[in-house]
Amino acid sequence: MSTAGPGRDVPEAQIAVHWREEEYYYPPARFIGQANASDPGILRRFGEENFPECFREYADLLDWDAYWHTTLDTGNPPFWKWFVGGRLNACRNCVDRHLPTSRDKAAFIWVPEPETEPPRVLTYQELYVQVNEFAALLRDFCGIQQGDRVTFHMPMVPELPVCMLACARLGVVHSEVFGGFSGMACGDRLADSGSRVLVTMDGYHRAGKLSDHKAKADEAVQVADKLGQQVDKVLVWRRHPGQYVSQTPMVEGRDFFVDDLLPGYRGRRVEPESMPAEAPLFLMYSSGTTGRPKGAQHRTGGYLSYVAGTAKYYLDIHPEDTYWCAADIGWITGHSYIVYGPLALGTTSVLYEGAPTHPDAGRCWRIAERLGVNIFHTAPTTIRLLRKLGPDEPAKYDYHFKHLTTVGEPIEPEVWRWYHEAVGKGEAVIDDTWWLTETGGFLGATLPALQPMKPGSCGPGVLGIYPVIYDDEGNTVEPGSGRAGNVCIRNPWPSVLQTIWGQPERFVELYYGKYCRDRQSTDWRDWPFLCGDGAVQAADGYLRILGRIDDVINVAGHRLGTKELESACLTVAEVAEAAAVPVVDELRGRVVEMYVALNPGLEPGGELETKVARAVERQIGPIARPKKVWIVPDMPKTRSGKIMRRVIAGISNFADVGDTSTLANPEVVDAIRHLVQSRK
Ligand code: PRX
Repeated sequence: MSTAGPGRDVPEAQIAVHWREEEYYYPPARFIGQANASDPGILRRFGEENFPECFREYADLLDWDAYWHTTLDTGNPPFWKWFVGGRLNACRNCVDRHLPTSRDKAAFIWVPEPETEPPRVLTYQELYVQVNEFAALLRDFCGIQQGDRVTFHMPMVPELPVCMLACARLGVVHSEVFGGFSGMACGDRLADSGSRVLVTMDGYHRAGKLSDHKAKADEAVQVADKLGQQVDKVLVWRRHPGQYVSQTPMVEGRDFFVDDLLPGYRGRRVEPESMPAEAPLFLMYSSGTTGRPKGAQHRTGGYLSYVAGTAKYYLDIHPEDTYWCAADIGWITGHSYIVYGPLALGTTSVLYEGAPTHPDAGRCWRIAERLGVNIFHTAPTTIRLLRKLGPDEPAKYDYHFKHLTTVGEPIEPEVWRWYHEAVGKGEAVIDDTWWLTETGGFLGATLPALQPMKPGSCGPGVLGIYPVIYDDEGNTVEPGSGRAGNVCIRNPWPSVLQTIWGQPERFVELYYGKYCRDRQSTDWRDWPFLCGDGAVQAADGYLRILGRIDDVINVAGHRLGTKELESACLTVAEVAEAAAVPVVDELRGRVVEMYVALNPGLEPGGELETKVARAVERQIGPIARPKKVWIVPDMPKTRSGKIMRRVIAGISNFADVGDTSTLANPEVVDAIRHLVQSRK
């Protein structure tokens, strides 16, 4: 199949064709007619012969204070520099520049929980006012200056993008920690980023409960303090201004209610700082394979250009669309495709509080109907859940999606088909977008009007991204060979992480160490970027992503490090050793099961399993709570003492455990198998 599109003569209804045993679906003509990318010439413009200048097309979507003189500087590999010499402000690009044409247009529509509370609309003008006032507060009350870091631990409320954009306006680096993470996880990240200010909220609603979120802030500050990072100020937004919903006392001189302070900044304006394109915009932490958190550092110019460009061509966002990405802003998806990409394009972006299935499995479709959402972006885990709990719910609501997208994990073809038929009502194009926190924006996806969809595959590399699959020895695995390998990107692109905050050597090793051909070379071709996923590439160039190759478990689209999970178990005094393994789960894709061995002389019993599960939840957050904790007599180990997680995962999934003859203690395999498989 060529990557050229099916053209405009495709019949209205989607057609499924079987070709080389692959199933393709084509976009409806109505979609093609309005798409931002409907001219196949775009594929040529982003062809390798035009690299890296092709990315000017994305950068030209922004307003620059000064144009760049060098599109890509490879002088200090792999610390690539993009749009060097250029200056811009991300907040000005997302807010101020839309005011002349779209002052009264909704920038965000926020749907709170419970449903009896009406949606709140934040126009571009209101966003401008709030961002300026909060920026003035950060600068003048907290003494925050350009280059400082500020950590947020915020739930899904419009105050979160206000905080992000205020930092961007000041040239301050923001670091949002997912609201569902524990105070401890937040404290680690506060310390790692060197933030002296934490911005949080007293509480928020989720699935009918009001959480006491402020309690986590106290713990976070203590943890950071132990790690040597003093937090001077905690700014607390109130979910219901004027009314404090937390039971946790405010600490005199440290904690301040934002709604008490803001009146002092009413009407204040802060000039957006003109930042170098390479100035860091934000940090986004992800789980690593060792204990220290890993803050992916993203740059201003390249990142904003790339998310604007990909949001335009892949999410097909037009300024007049009502676009809803039902992810959490606490993850990279939310940064790139709820806040920065959509706002750079001047569209209306929907946010919601709560859960997709509460009070019932019709919530998303009610929101879509009420707000007129026409582009919807979510994760396979949510689709599976909605399909299970409310397979017929979409039909009850009058909404029309032109475009549906997914992100975060592979989507099974049968789930894909429900999404297409039931949710999309056969009218919508589906885009399976594959990428990572570190990549800032999409890596693999289909150009929705030009490249057909193939359930189970994300698509080819996106515009200007040239993927390749290598085997462990660095040989290329040819497309169509049917063999899996490690997927890499051969070239740099504008939104690839700049570095890992404070850990440049780790950055080089993790992403480039395995396949770099010559460490002295300043030719980018010698520096393929290792994505960390196994993949198979079909003859048509489409990638099927198989999952992480490192010690990371992807639970419902969230990356959890096995080391992090295991360290949490080891905080329980009785536990001697722990192993985290992924187990296939119908709804969440993968879930974590913990295997623990106790200290000598101890016997299983009491509430030990619960204690271990609680420890994990306390240290990391509820998303990490193991589905099951198994207490085993010993761990299968290599002769050098390495725990063989592969063997345990094989047992847990009733799969082949591979060769166990070289283990130091092969007899334990049968003991674990007996224990586990008899009780599953
Ligand atoms: O394994 C891939 C999986 O999610 C990982 C990245 O996780 P994170 O950094 O949290 O970012 C998630 C959102 C960008 C990848 O290494 N992944 C992401 N998207 C897909 C996917 N796996 C299969 N298909 C996808 N569309």
